Amino acid sequence: MALAIHFHEQPSCERQSSLRDEVLAGFSASPKQISPKFFYDRRGSELFENICRQPEYYLTRVEEQILSQAANEIVELAGPGADLIEFGSGASRKVRLLLEALHPSSYLGLDISQDFLLTSTQRLAADYPWLEVHAACCDFSEQVELPDDFQTRQPLAFFPGSSIGNFTPAQARRFLFELHQLLPSGGSALIGVDLVKDRKMLEAAYNDRAQATAAFNLNVLQRIRNELHADIDPTRFEHRAFFNEAESRIEMHLVSTEPQEVLIEGRRFHFDEGESLHTENSYKYSLEAFCGLARSVGFDCIGRWTDAERLFSVHFLRKP
Ligand code: AVI
Repeated sequence: MALAIHFHEQPSCERQSSLRDEVLAGFSASPKQISPKFFYDRRGSELFENICRQPEYYLTRVEEQILSQAANEIVELAGPGADLIEFGSGASRKVRLLLEALHPSSYLGLDISQDFLLTSTQRLAADYPWLEVHAACCDFSEQVELPDDFQTRQPLAFFPGSSIGNFTPAQARRFLFELHQLLPSGGSALIGVDLVKDRKMLEAAYNDRAQATAAFNLNVLQRIRNELHADIDPTRFEHRAFFNEAESRIEMHLVSTEPQEVLIEGRRFHFDEGESLHTENSYKYSLEAFCGLARSVGFDCIGRWTDAERLFSVHFLRKP
């Protein structure tokens, strides 16, 4: 199939050196850790899509519900002719809801996983022939730059799925600050944010019965094994996820089931039995705390929607 999209190479895309350097640094730290951005190779992105289908993982389902109910209001706030920029462009149905409601002339998908990005944006281009589709592979935990030939006067930045929760609050503030810099005056952002709630429901979402989350978490070890010179064995680790109430975050870890040595790029690392590799935080906000964060970098919070049970929220921010 001919490439029906405009693809833009970005410098921060899936840098191999970044995986190697960050893994070596994270495994040398105490406690051991790795950035959740490394979950998303092609396999990891597919495993994440599978999490989104699990009954316990309410985030996707509820956000979709909110977006479809709020679609008309979103269109009104975004204004006619708004162009869509999606951060973390997965295979999701959410952006389709927005594309159908907004009917923008162009769409830019940004994602860290290049081949997954290409597949999903090509699918959008095939399904929406009226849409000019751009794709740029980038790591938006670093500074995001829009490709030169993606011209838009009225962008709507869409950051769904509570991916902002995978940043620390300080990183989330920096991300919002940079987004604010990137947008022209009058530009907007639509951001999905998971809300603090009952521990049981939160922990179930990250410990689903089908073990989709466990497979996603363990896949990062497989990625290290595939892409680096490493003898790490995922079967000698276990998935663990729990709500840390004091920090208002779900923490995900991979716990060593036995004492072991692993060799990565010629460096040897020791794990005690029960020692963990911290793989992800997923921060949960109150409505007020998230709006406070957005306001602190200069956005106006001009719309926000939640479901009846207040599980999830979607925020419409405008740069004055
Ligand atoms: C992408 N991100 C918002 C997901 C989350 O809920 O933090 C990633 C995830 N980790 C485990 N399950 C889903």
